[in-house]
Amino acid sequence: MEIINRRQRMFSISRKLRREEKTVGFVPTMGALHAGHLALVQEARAANDIVVVSIFVNPTQFNNKGDLEKYPRDLTADAALLTEYDVDYIFAPEEHEIYGEGFSTYVNVEGITDTLEGASRPGHFRGVATIVTILFNTVRPDRAYFGQKDAQQVAVIRRLTADLGFETEVVVMPTIREASGLAMSSRNERLSAEERGKAVVLINALREAKLAFKKGERNASVLAQIVRDTVATEPLATIDYVAVIDRDSLQPIEKIGDGEALIAIAAEFAGVRLIDNVILNRKQ
Ligand code: PAF
Repeated sequence: MEIINRRQRMFSISRKLRREEKTVGFVPTMGALHAGHLALVQEARAANDIVVVSIFVNPTQFNNKGDLEKYPRDLTADAALLTEYDVDYIFAPEEHEIYGEGFSTYVNVEGITDTLEGASRPGHFRGVATIVTILFNTVRPDRAYFGQKDAQQVAVIRRLTADLGFETEVVVMPTIREASGLAMSSRNERLSAEERGKAVVLINALREAKLAFKKGERNASVLAQIVRDTVATEPLATIDYVAVIDRDSLQPIEKIGDGEALIAIAAEFAGVRLIDNVILNRKQ
């Protein structure tokens, strides 16, 4: 496994791999790796000749400076983990390698970034879309792997991949959960064991609503209310939004039909923002 810090080096490896007709699976991360990331790496390992993982805490997607400063960073621990997963390259550039002097080009995916996380974290998706574009252009992957937990991020990346004509297949893997059901997230590290236990209310609430859906409830506002009522039983949680939306367009749905839909939630838990979602009418 090689750790690459320079963009030029990553470019020349990507060029070489393409010449050799090797397929490249890419897992973009911000480090602080957990079982959710490792599931993506395993999938990439199984389906590609070469696996590249990027580790870059991307400053442009943080709208809150405190959040950026608190973001856990431990490249040595992350690299040690990735060695066990037979990763070929870690791309871990310094900030100036990506955002050099005079950097002034950003990628804006319009429409679907206005709501949900986009509304609560202005500029966040501009940062995500910009870094993912830069990383795709540098690594030139055949497949890139993302987790369903970040449903809006997935929709944004699918849109930009199609719009900008990247030849990369976006592969979305199911959310990996702790034994309690809590969705894996680097942010969970900022919760105490007790808070982590209580944060399970989010997935429990989503599962309550999914159960009601399975029993025949199709009215989105009823399903959303089930989620709100369940979360309200936990005083530590403050809901930002509960939304019932189309899986791709992220448009709100009033009555759920045959298409895939999501119930998505964001809530603050002891100062830590958590998100989660469940899929209704899953096709595969
Ligand atoms: O999901 C993440 O960790 C980040 O948003 C990503 C895709 C690596 C871009 O910085």
